[in-house]
Amino acid sequence: MIISDYMKKEHRACDTLFADAEKAVMDGDFEKADKLFTDFSDETLRHFHKEESTLFPTFEETTGMREGPTQMMRHEHEQMRDLISRMGKALEDKDKDTYLGVAELLMILIQQHNMKEEQMLYAMCDRSISQEVKEDTISQMEQLRDW
Ligand SMILES: [Fe+2]
Ligand SMILES: [Fe+2]
Repeated sequence: MIISDYMKKEHRACDTLFADAEKAVMDGDFEKADKLFTDFSDETLRHFHKEESTLFPTFEETTGMREGPTQMMRHEHEQMRDLISRMGKALEDKDKDTYLGVAELLMILIQQHNMKEEQMLYAMCDRSISQEVKEDTISQMEQLRDW
């Protein structure tokens, strides 16, 4: 289950940053919120990039499924990228209500998205990809620093 373990750990880390940033916004501590939101955004966008550039293509190659789950996940990433950029803009404007409203929408999307990946996509990756390719995929993802 090395793909699941590696990817789930990133989901949890992003969830923690999301919650910490939200708390700072609620407290009205915008300096702290800026830093935490930037960390959340960086980690989340890097995670999406790891999936889109490395894990999804490996899944598509191995299973021959190119139009199915990975296309849906890519589409959801686009929706989430849009919400994250709206949150960044709200933070620049110190607009607490907009930030919290968009954050609520994003949290729902993230929860549904991550559940689909963890219960279906990552589990399929762990079942269908050889151990050697899985290890290779993880080391390639580890090397991605930008997105
Ligand atoms: Fe994803
Ligand atoms: Fe993911």
